[in-house]
Amino acid sequence: MIEYKDVEIKYGDFVAMEDLNLTVNDGEFFTFLGPSGCGKTTTLRALVGFLTPTRGEILVDGQNIIPIPVEKRGIGMVFQSYALFPTMNVYDNIAYGLRVKKMAKDLVDKKVREIAETVALTEEQLTKPVAALSGGQQQRVALARAVVLEPKILCLDEPLSNLDAKLRVELRGELKRLQRQLKITTLYVTHDQEEALTLSDRIAVFNNGRLEQVGTPYEIYNNSNSEFVCDFIGDINRFGRGIIDEINQQCQAGLDDTKTAFVRIERVYGQNEKPGSAAFAAKVIDKEYNGIYTKYIYEAFGQTFKNIEKNDGVVDHNLGDTVQLHVSPADIMQF
Ligand SMILES: Nc1ncnc2c1ncn2[C@@H]1O[C@H](COP(=O)(O)OP(=O)(O)OP(=O)(O)O)[C@@H](O)[C@H]1O
Ligand SMILES: [Mg+2]
Repeated sequence: MIEYKDVEIKYGDFVAMEDLNLTVNDGEFFTFLGPSGCGKTTTLRALVGFLTPTRGEILVDGQNIIPIPVEKRGIGMVFQSYALFPTMNVYDNIAYGLRVKKMAKDLVDKKVREIAETVALTEEQLTKPVAALSGGQQQRVALARAVVLEPKILCLDEPLSNLDAKLRVELRGELKRLQRQLKITTLYVTHDQEEALTLSDRIAVFNNGRLEQVGTPYEIYNNSNSEFVCDFIGDINRFGRGIIDEINQQCQAGLDDTKTAFVRIERVYGQNEKPGSAAFAAKVIDKEYNGIYTKYIYEAFGQTFKNIEKNDGVVDHNLGDTVQLHVSPADIMQF
Protein backbone atom coordinates (compact mmCIF):
# COMPACT_ATOMS: atom_id res chain seq x y z
CA MET A 1 0.00 0.00 0.00
CA ILE A 2 1.22 3.49 -0.87
CA GLU A 3 0.10 6.46 1.21
CA TYR A 4 0.74 10.11 0.57
CA LYS A 5 0.11 11.87 3.90
CA ASP A 6 -0.22 15.68 3.99
CA VAL A 7 2.38 15.89 1.23
CA GLU A 8 3.42 19.29 -0.03
CA ILE A 9 6.00 19.69 -2.79
CA LYS A 10 7.57 23.03 -3.63
CA TYR A 11 10.04 24.23 -6.23
CA GLY A 12 11.51 27.25 -4.44
CA ASP A 13 8.45 29.26 -3.42
CA PHE A 14 6.19 27.65 -6.01
CA VAL A 15 3.79 25.07 -4.59
CA ALA A 16 3.59 22.27 -7.19
CA MET A 17 1.46 19.99 -4.97
CA GLU A 18 -0.41 21.12 -1.90
CA ASP A 19 -1.51 18.96 1.00
CA LEU A 20 -1.95 15.68 -0.84
CA ASN A 21 -3.62 12.76 0.91
CA LEU A 22 -3.97 9.65 -1.21
CA THR A 23 -3.89 5.88 -0.79
CA VAL A 24 -3.03 3.35 -3.50
CA ASN A 25 -3.85 -0.28 -2.78
CA ASP A 26 -1.69 -3.31 -3.54
CA GLY A 27 -2.01 -4.55 -7.09
CA GLU A 28 -3.96 -1.52 -8.18
CA PHE A 29 -3.59 0.20 -11.56
CA PHE A 30 -3.80 3.76 -10.31
CA THR A 31 -3.68 6.78 -12.62
CA PHE A 32 -2.73 10.41 -12.05
CA LEU A 33 -4.78 12.40 -14.55
CA GLY A 34 -4.81 16.12 -15.21
CA PRO A 35 -3.77 18.88 -17.61
CA SER A 36 -0.18 19.85 -18.30
CA GLY A 37 1.52 21.41 -15.29
CA CYS A 38 -0.96 20.17 -12.67
CA GLY A 39 1.73 18.25 -10.76
CA LYS A 40 1.41 14.62 -11.92
CA THR A 41 5.10 14.05 -12.64
CA THR A 42 6.10 15.92 -9.50
CA THR A 43 3.92 13.64 -7.36
CA LEU A 44 5.28 10.53 -9.03
CA ARG A 45 8.91 11.63 -8.74
CA ALA A 46 8.48 12.19 -5.03
CA LEU A 47 7.48 8.54 -4.67
CA VAL A 48 10.38 7.31 -6.79
CA GLY A 49 12.74 9.51 -4.80
CA PHE A 50 13.95 12.02 -7.40
CA LEU A 51 12.67 14.84 -5.25
CA THR A 52 11.86 15.36 -1.58
CA PRO A 53 8.54 16.74 -0.36
CA THR A 54 8.72 19.95 1.63
CA ARG A 55 6.15 18.56 4.07
CA GLY A 56 4.40 15.27 4.86
CA GLU A 57 5.22 11.60 4.49
CA ILE A 58 5.05 8.97 1.79
CA LEU A 59 4.50 5.52 3.23
CA VAL A 60 4.98 2.19 1.47
CA ASP A 61 3.54 -0.68 3.51
CA GLY A 62 3.49 1.59 6.52
CA GLN A 63 7.11 2.71 6.26
CA ASN A 64 8.05 6.31 5.48
CA ILE A 65 10.26 6.02 2.40
CA ILE A 66 11.38 9.65 2.16
CA PRO A 67 14.75 9.00 3.88
CA ILE A 68 15.39 5.93 1.65
CA PRO A 69 17.59 6.51 -1.42
CA VAL A 70 16.10 5.97 -4.89
CA GLU A 71 17.93 2.70 -5.65
CA LYS A 72 16.78 1.08 -2.39
CA ARG A 73 13.07 1.84 -2.83
CA GLY A 74 12.35 -1.06 -5.17
CA ILE A 75 10.36 1.08 -7.59
CA GLY A 76 10.54 0.63 -11.36
CA MET A 77 10.10 3.60 -13.66
CA VAL A 78 9.30 4.11 -17.33
CA PHE A 79 9.33 7.57 -18.90
CA GLN A 80 7.79 9.18 -21.94
CA SER A 81 11.19 9.34 -23.62
CA TYR A 82 12.47 5.80 -23.57
CA ALA A 83 15.69 6.67 -21.72
CA LEU A 84 17.41 3.49 -22.95
CA PHE A 85 21.16 3.11 -23.37
CA PRO A 86 21.46 3.90 -27.08
CA THR A 87 24.78 2.17 -27.72
CA MET A 88 23.70 -1.14 -26.16
CA ASN A 89 21.58 -3.77 -27.80
CA VAL A 90 18.13 -4.68 -26.51
CA TYR A 91 19.37 -7.66 -24.50
CA ASP A 92 22.00 -5.62 -22.65
CA ASN A 93 19.52 -2.85 -21.94
CA ILE A 94 17.15 -5.29 -20.27
CA ALA A 95 19.97 -7.14 -18.49
CA TYR A 96 21.60 -3.96 -17.18
CA GLY A 97 19.88 -3.73 -13.80
CA LEU A 98 20.29 -7.45 -13.11
CA ARG A 99 24.03 -7.26 -13.83
CA VAL A 100 24.36 -4.24 -11.53
CA LYS A 101 22.86 -6.48 -8.87
CA LYS A 102 25.58 -9.03 -9.71
CA MET A 103 23.09 -11.75 -10.59
CA ALA A 104 24.56 -15.00 -12.00
CA LYS A 105 24.90 -14.98 -15.78
CA ASP A 106 22.60 -17.90 -16.54
CA LEU A 107 19.87 -16.50 -14.29
CA VAL A 108 20.18 -13.10 -16.00
CA ASP A 109 19.78 -14.87 -19.33
CA LYS A 110 16.71 -16.76 -18.19
CA LYS A 111 15.04 -13.64 -16.80
CA VAL A 112 15.82 -11.47 -19.82
CA ARG A 113 14.37 -14.04 -22.23
CA GLU A 114 11.28 -14.58 -20.10
CA ILE A 115 10.46 -10.91 -19.79
CA ALA A 116 11.20 -10.29 -23.48
CA GLU A 117 8.60 -12.88 -24.33
CA THR A 118 6.11 -11.35 -21.90
CA VAL A 119 6.38 -7.93 -23.58
CA ALA A 120 6.38 -9.47 -27.09
CA LEU A 121 9.98 -8.81 -28.08
CA THR A 122 11.42 -11.47 -30.37
CA GLU A 123 14.75 -13.31 -30.01
CA GLU A 124 15.93 -11.47 -33.09
CA GLN A 125 15.05 -8.07 -31.64
CA LEU A 126 17.10 -8.85 -28.52
CA THR A 127 20.31 -8.69 -30.55
CA LYS A 128 19.49 -5.40 -32.26
CA PRO A 129 20.78 -2.00 -31.18
CA VAL A 130 17.87 -0.13 -29.55
CA ALA A 131 18.22 2.63 -32.12
CA ALA A 132 17.13 0.14 -34.79
CA LEU A 133 13.74 -0.37 -33.10
CA SER A 134 10.51 1.53 -33.62
CA GLY A 135 9.09 3.75 -30.88
CA GLY A 136 6.64 1.11 -29.75
CA GLN A 137 9.33 -1.57 -29.61
CA GLN A 138 11.64 0.74 -27.67
CA GLN A 139 8.91 1.37 -25.16
CA ARG A 140 8.50 -2.41 -24.75
CA VAL A 141 12.23 -2.57 -24.00
CA ALA A 142 11.90 0.23 -21.43
CA LEU A 143 9.02 -1.64 -19.81
CA ALA A 144 10.93 -4.94 -19.83
CA ARG A 145 13.98 -3.25 -18.32
CA ALA A 146 11.89 -1.92 -15.44
CA VAL A 147 9.79 -5.04 -14.85
CA VAL A 148 12.66 -7.55 -15.01
CA LEU A 149 13.88 -6.21 -11.66
CA GLU A 150 10.57 -7.31 -10.11
CA PRO A 151 9.80 -3.96 -8.50
CA LYS A 152 7.12 -3.76 -5.81
CA ILE A 153 5.81 -0.66 -7.53
CA LEU A 154 5.89 0.33 -11.18
CA CYS A 155 5.73 4.03 -12.10
CA LEU A 156 4.89 4.97 -15.68
CA ASP A 157 5.04 8.61 -16.74
CA GLU A 158 3.18 9.12 -20.04
CA PRO A 159 4.86 6.02 -21.53
CA LEU A 160 2.66 6.02 -24.64
CA SER A 161 2.50 9.68 -25.54
CA ASN A 162 5.32 9.59 -28.11
CA LEU A 163 3.57 6.90 -30.11
CA ASP A 164 1.02 7.25 -32.88
CA ALA A 165 -2.67 6.86 -32.07
CA LYS A 166 -3.16 3.31 -33.27
CA LEU A 167 -0.05 1.98 -31.54
CA ARG A 168 -1.00 3.80 -28.36
CA VAL A 169 -4.27 1.90 -28.20
CA GLU A 170 -2.55 -1.39 -28.97
CA LEU A 171 0.17 -0.96 -26.35
CA ARG A 172 -2.37 0.24 -23.83
CA GLY A 173 -4.11 -3.13 -24.07
CA GLU A 174 -0.81 -4.99 -23.72
CA LEU A 175 0.18 -2.90 -20.74
CA LYS A 176 -3.07 -3.67 -18.98
CA ARG A 177 -2.69 -7.41 -19.63
CA LEU A 178 0.91 -7.34 -18.40
CA GLN A 179 -0.07 -5.49 -15.23
CA ARG A 180 -2.87 -7.97 -14.52
CA GLN A 181 -0.52 -10.88 -15.09
CA LEU A 182 2.29 -9.54 -12.88
CA LYS A 183 -0.05 -7.90 -10.34
CA ILE A 184 2.43 -5.06 -9.76
CA THR A 185 1.02 -1.98 -8.03
CA THR A 186 1.18 0.52 -10.87
CA LEU A 187 1.10 4.31 -10.86
CA TYR A 188 0.41 5.70 -14.28
CA VAL A 189 0.62 9.34 -15.34
CA THR A 190 -1.34 10.67 -18.28
CA HIS A 191 -3.20 13.74 -19.46
CA ASP A 192 -5.28 11.57 -21.80
CA GLN A 193 -8.71 10.94 -20.28
CA GLU A 194 -9.46 8.00 -22.56
CA GLU A 195 -6.24 6.28 -21.49
CA ALA A 196 -7.11 6.87 -17.84
CA LEU A 197 -10.65 5.54 -18.23
CA THR A 198 -9.67 2.40 -20.12
CA LEU A 199 -6.61 1.39 -18.07
CA SER A 200 -7.27 2.28 -14.48
CA ASP A 201 -8.74 0.59 -11.45
CA ARG A 202 -8.88 4.06 -9.92
CA ILE A 203 -8.04 7.56 -11.07
CA ALA A 204 -6.86 10.65 -9.18
CA VAL A 205 -7.71 13.86 -11.04
CA PHE A 206 -5.37 16.77 -10.35
CA ASN A 207 -5.84 20.42 -11.15
CA ASN A 208 -3.30 23.12 -10.55
CA GLY A 209 -1.36 21.37 -7.79
CA ARG A 210 -4.47 20.07 -6.04
CA LEU A 211 -6.22 16.73 -5.92
CA GLU A 212 -9.77 17.20 -7.24
CA GLN A 213 -11.24 13.71 -7.04
CA VAL A 214 -10.35 10.05 -6.60
CA GLY A 215 -12.54 7.24 -7.85
CA THR A 216 -13.08 4.40 -10.26
CA PRO A 217 -13.40 5.40 -13.92
CA TYR A 218 -17.16 4.89 -13.60
CA GLU A 219 -17.41 7.11 -10.53
CA ILE A 220 -15.24 9.86 -11.97
CA TYR A 221 -17.23 9.89 -15.19
CA ASN A 222 -20.74 9.55 -13.79
CA ASN A 223 -20.38 11.28 -10.44
CA SER A 224 -17.84 14.01 -11.12
CA ASN A 225 -17.67 16.18 -8.04
CA SER A 226 -16.64 19.41 -9.71
CA GLU A 227 -17.06 21.28 -12.96
CA PHE A 228 -13.35 20.81 -13.62
CA VAL A 229 -13.48 17.01 -13.35
CA CYS A 230 -16.73 16.82 -15.28
CA ASP A 231 -15.27 18.85 -18.14
CA PHE A 232 -11.84 17.21 -18.14
CA ILE A 233 -13.02 13.62 -18.18
CA GLY A 234 -15.52 13.96 -21.02
CA ASP A 235 -17.27 16.24 -23.46
CA ILE A 236 -20.07 18.27 -21.94
CA ASN A 237 -22.86 20.73 -22.70
CA ARG A 238 -23.26 23.77 -20.47
CA PHE A 239 -26.93 24.59 -19.98
CA GLY A 240 -27.91 28.22 -19.38
CA ARG A 241 -31.04 29.54 -17.74
CA GLY A 242 -33.33 29.25 -20.79
CA ILE A 243 -33.06 25.51 -21.23
CA ILE A 244 -33.05 24.85 -17.48
CA ASP A 245 -36.32 26.77 -17.09
CA GLU A 246 -37.79 24.76 -19.97
CA ILE A 247 -36.76 21.45 -18.37
CA ASN A 248 -38.16 22.60 -15.02
CA GLN A 249 -41.46 23.45 -16.67
CA GLN A 250 -41.78 20.23 -18.67
CA CYS A 251 -40.52 17.83 -16.00
CA GLN A 252 -41.10 19.62 -12.66
CA ALA A 253 -37.40 19.03 -12.17
CA GLY A 254 -36.82 21.78 -9.60
CA LEU A 255 -33.34 22.62 -10.94
CA ASP A 256 -31.64 25.77 -9.65
CA ASP A 257 -31.62 28.08 -12.69
CA THR A 258 -29.10 30.45 -11.14
CA LYS A 259 -26.43 27.74 -11.44
CA THR A 260 -24.95 26.38 -14.66
CA ALA A 261 -25.92 22.79 -15.40
CA PHE A 262 -23.85 20.21 -17.27
CA VAL A 263 -24.92 17.29 -19.42
CA ARG A 264 -22.60 14.88 -21.20
CA ILE A 265 -22.93 15.13 -24.95
CA GLU A 266 -23.97 11.50 -25.39
CA ARG A 267 -26.88 12.17 -23.02
CA VAL A 268 -28.54 14.70 -25.25
CA TYR A 269 -30.68 12.30 -27.26
CA GLY A 270 -31.95 12.83 -30.77
CA GLN A 271 -33.92 9.60 -30.49
CA ASN A 272 -34.47 6.72 -28.02
CA GLU A 273 -34.86 9.26 -25.25
CA LYS A 274 -35.25 8.22 -21.64
CA PRO A 275 -38.71 8.28 -20.02
CA GLY A 276 -39.46 11.58 -18.29
CA SER A 277 -37.22 13.60 -20.61
CA ALA A 278 -37.84 17.17 -21.72
CA ALA A 279 -38.08 17.69 -25.49
CA PHE A 280 -37.11 20.78 -27.41
CA ALA A 281 -36.49 21.76 -31.01
CA ALA A 282 -32.97 22.74 -32.05
CA LYS A 283 -31.38 23.75 -35.34
CA VAL A 284 -28.34 21.92 -36.71
CA ILE A 285 -25.61 24.53 -37.20
CA ASP A 286 -22.58 22.28 -37.65
CA LYS A 287 -21.54 18.64 -37.81
CA GLU A 288 -18.31 16.67 -37.55
CA TYR A 289 -18.21 13.28 -39.25
CA ASN A 290 -16.17 10.81 -37.21
CA GLY A 291 -16.65 7.48 -38.96
CA ILE A 292 -18.25 5.57 -36.09
CA TYR A 293 -20.38 8.55 -35.08
CA THR A 294 -21.22 12.10 -36.09
CA LYS A 295 -21.03 14.97 -33.63
CA TYR A 296 -23.76 17.56 -34.18
CA ILE A 297 -23.82 21.14 -32.97
CA TYR A 298 -27.28 22.64 -32.52
CA GLU A 299 -28.71 25.98 -31.54
CA ALA A 300 -31.73 26.66 -29.29
CA PHE A 301 -32.55 28.97 -26.37
CA GLY A 302 -29.78 31.30 -27.56
CA GLN A 303 -27.07 28.72 -26.88
CA THR A 304 -25.40 25.76 -28.56
CA PHE A 305 -25.83 22.07 -27.76
CA LYS A 306 -23.74 19.08 -28.82
CA ASN A 307 -24.68 15.47 -29.19
CA ILE A 308 -23.44 12.42 -31.02
CA GLU A 309 -25.36 10.05 -33.23
CA LYS A 310 -24.10 6.60 -34.13
CA ASN A 311 -23.63 6.36 -37.90
CA ASP A 312 -26.13 3.56 -38.33
CA GLY A 313 -27.21 4.69 -41.79
CA VAL A 314 -30.55 5.94 -40.41
CA VAL A 315 -29.83 9.31 -38.84
CA ASP A 316 -28.12 11.91 -40.98
CA HIS A 317 -29.06 15.52 -40.32
CA ASN A 318 -28.12 18.37 -42.60
CA LEU A 319 -27.11 21.88 -41.65
CA GLY A 320 -30.25 23.96 -41.11
CA ASP A 321 -32.45 20.95 -40.16
CA THR A 322 -34.60 21.29 -37.08
CA VAL A 323 -34.29 18.28 -34.78
CA GLN A 324 -36.16 17.26 -31.62
CA LEU A 325 -33.67 16.83 -28.79
CA HIS A 326 -34.39 15.17 -25.45
CA VAL A 327 -32.76 15.60 -22.07
CA SER A 328 -33.54 13.74 -18.89
CA PRO A 329 -33.28 15.72 -15.64
CA ALA A 330 -31.49 12.66 -14.21
CA ASP A 331 -28.54 13.35 -16.52
CA ILE A 332 -28.09 16.92 -15.38
CA MET A 333 -25.14 17.70 -13.12
CA GLN A 334 -24.88 20.88 -11.07
CA PHE A 335 -22.06 21.78 -8.70
N1 LIG B 1 12.36 21.51 -11.69
C1 LIG B 1 11.36 22.40 -11.58
N2 LIG B 1 11.59 23.65 -11.13
C2 LIG B 1 10.59 24.55 -11.01
N3 LIG B 1 9.31 24.30 -11.32
C3 LIG B 1 9.02 23.08 -11.76
C4 LIG B 1 10.02 22.06 -11.93
N4 LIG B 1 9.43 20.94 -12.40
C5 LIG B 1 8.13 21.25 -12.54
N5 LIG B 1 7.87 22.52 -12.16
C6 LIG B 1 6.55 23.18 -12.16
O1 LIG B 1 5.69 22.44 -11.31
C7 LIG B 1 4.40 22.31 -11.89
C8 LIG B 1 4.03 20.85 -12.02
O2 LIG B 1 4.92 20.25 -12.94
P1 LIG B 1 4.79 18.72 -13.35
O3 LIG B 1 5.94 18.42 -14.23
O4 LIG B 1 4.61 17.90 -12.14
O5 LIG B 1 3.44 18.75 -14.18
P2 LIG B 1 2.71 17.58 -15.00
O6 LIG B 1 1.34 17.47 -14.43
O7 LIG B 1 3.55 16.37 -14.99
O8 LIG B 1 2.60 18.21 -16.45
P3 LIG B 1 2.83 17.54 -17.92
O9 LIG B 1 1.53 16.87 -18.27
O10 LIG B 1 3.10 18.71 -18.78
O11 LIG B 1 3.99 16.58 -17.82
C9 LIG B 1 4.45 23.06 -13.21
O12 LIG B 1 3.91 24.34 -13.02
C10 LIG B 1 5.92 23.14 -13.52
O13 LIG B 1 6.20 24.30 -14.26
MG1 LIG C 1 4.54 15.31 -16.49
